[in-house]
Amino acid sequence: MADQKGKRRITTSEVKKLQKDATFYVLGVVTRFVQRKDKNDNPFWEIALMDNEGAIDGKVWGNSEWWNINGSSQRKMNPTSDEELKKLEGKTVGIQGKIVEFRDQNQCNFSAVYYVDQEKYPPHDFVRKSPFEPDVLINSLFSFIEECKEPMRGFLKYVFIEKNLRKDFIVWPAAVSMHHAYVGGLLEHSVLVTRSALSIARGYTPDISNLNIDLDLVIAGALLHDIGKLEAYKLSPAPNMTTLGSTVDHIVCGYHTLMKLLAEYGKLDERTAMALGHIIVSHHGSREFGSPVLPETPEAFIVAAADDLDFKLFVWRDQVSQLDGDKEFSEFLAPLQRRFWKSHDVLKKSPPVSADPDREFANAGIASAFAAAQKDAL
Ligand SMILES: [Fe+2]
Ligand SMILES: [Fe+2]
Repeated sequence: MADQKGKRRITTSEVKKLQKDATFYVLGVVTRFVQRKDKNDNPFWEIALMDNEGAIDGKVWGNSEWWNINGSSQRKMNPTSDEELKKLEGKTVGIQGKIVEFRDQNQCNFSAVYYVDQEKYPPHDFVRKSPFEPDVLINSLFSFIEECKEPMRGFLKYVFIEKNLRKDFIVWPAAVSMHHAYVGGLLEHSVLVTRSALSIARGYTPDISNLNIDLDLVIAGALLHDIGKLEAYKLSPAPNMTTLGSTVDHIVCGYHTLMKLLAEYGKLDERTAMALGHIIVSHHGSREFGSPVLPETPEAFIVAAADDLDFKLFVWRDQVSQLDGDKEFSEFLAPLQRRFWKSHDVLKKSPPVSADPDREFANAGIASAFAAAQKDAL
């Protein structure tokens, strides 16, 4: 039956909690669409789908149905010949599916794909966004800048205001998967890393540590540590890697951008500029994780530690908030070499938002900045 009307639509996070044999209908934006061949040389497809709450992926076998639904008209589509289906990434689709078990793990089989009216269901409406108040994060970013002394304050204002990097910075993702892989993720992650790095740095007061930590360097290093992601990732409309990101990566992009901005601004002394560059290139903390040098200064130790902490806290929250019922442990995550333990309850949703007119304004700002950034990225 082609008509998807009347099916109760659920979200990707609800799909993840379904048991074997349950069926579902979900609407979202396609982030990956790959055609493969089975052992009998018959085509099948892999689709990854994102909505506001997360992402799922599954297989579309040869006997599945493909429909174009536009208003009251509907027609059957052929995934091997229809032009719209060849460019499915970044488009909104409805998907009907079923949970099946394979090697003791639940996975999704997609039995029908509905190519929907893209104007009625704009893809960017389904892209996952940071659950936190954008105005709180933006205010935090600017209050960190104000905390710096000159010339660092002037440099950060030059970067975020004069060069207008804040326009993309507030909507950009911090990753394609694993952590903060959504609209506003880079801002959320950078603010949390800065907040945490600053707390650590302030804990080491000279009277009990004999350390004279440069707080301006900590703030600038933490705010800018992932600046290379502006070039390494794009929104299309879901987070994606750019060619430069795949071939050069964000650490090299970030160092290059930073050096260019420092040369243009010209008021930071050479050693401070070098120390800031060192934080950018060493912030992954090890060569194995992509840093060509290891942190060699207190400011660099602190930013690398805060970055790693924010990454792990994000993944812990993300994983345990998806656990159903009495389940205590997440699946084993190979990139982190561990499972995560739900030692206590974690908020599943962000707290209800007060009816603050400023928030509407801030959200409108994020939405229009997102639309503009997407336009530029095309
Ligand atoms: Fe990074
Ligand atoms: Fe980071």
